[in-house]
Amino acid sequence: MTSGRREPEAQVREPVPVPFPLWDRTATSGTFLSLDGIDGCGKSTQCRKLADWLRGRGYPVTTCRDPGGTALGDQLRTILLDSAHPRTPEAETLLFMASRAELIAEVIRPALDRGEVVVSDRYLLSTVAYQGYGKGINPQLIWNIGREATYGLVPDLTLVLDLPVAVARARLNRPVDRMESLGDEFFERVRKGFLQEARFYLRPVRVIDATQSVEAVHECIKQEVSRVLETDSGT
Ligand code: TYD
Repeated sequence: MTSGRREPEAQVREPVPVPFPLWDRTATSGTFLSLDGIDGCGKSTQCRKLADWLRGRGYPVTTCRDPGGTALGDQLRTILLDSAHPRTPEAETLLFMASRAELIAEVIRPALDRGEVVVSDRYLLSTVAYQGYGKGINPQLIWNIGREATYGLVPDLTLVLDLPVAVARARLNRPVDRMESLGDEFFERVRKGFLQEARFYLRPVRVIDATQSVEAVHECIKQEVSRVLETDSGT
């Protein structure tokens, strides 16, 4: 292997048609929300609070976390986060994608078809930030693979909880997993990835200052989510 990562060959090939139709979101009535950000940004707490608030307002809600949430996804999550076995960034990228494809097929898509609000703890943008910016896989390649692995499903609203790496690390006041044990430089790159790549979703992405208190962040999230739900219901 030579040093540095090669440019993906896809850049010199004609685009290959997607072998199945991308999912037509206009045929479903549900709303897809995802929360993302570096480890320690507080998104798991905020996912719970958001789901509780939505349920309190009468919305049927499905929550999920990526990776995980299905039989295969839970096994992949264990391999990805707990196993000390070395793996290439390429393999890691594809395992995260595999878990996500299952999650969409078994959990997210059926819930959206039922008209529910789906709150996902992480989604595709995490792979772009962690495996792309963090581990050197070409971000465009990840978007391309992701488009196929997700059937083109993009959240109606993505909330990126942003905060300095040092603050996030101080909040991880517990034993860390494989990913969390990576150094601050890694997480600086990942943070940059979230901030620079979010716009490529081509759907609303809001960056929220996660140094605020839990309640203040929750307020910001509620405001952003209300806007999307009002648009969806045509009010
Ligand atoms: P998370 O569920 O936020 O961890 P925890 O429940 O322990 O707070 O995310 C799991 C880890 O996996 C986290 O370090 C981010 C990483 N990750 C990736 O590297 N790529 C991905 O595509 C995803 C979804 C997560």
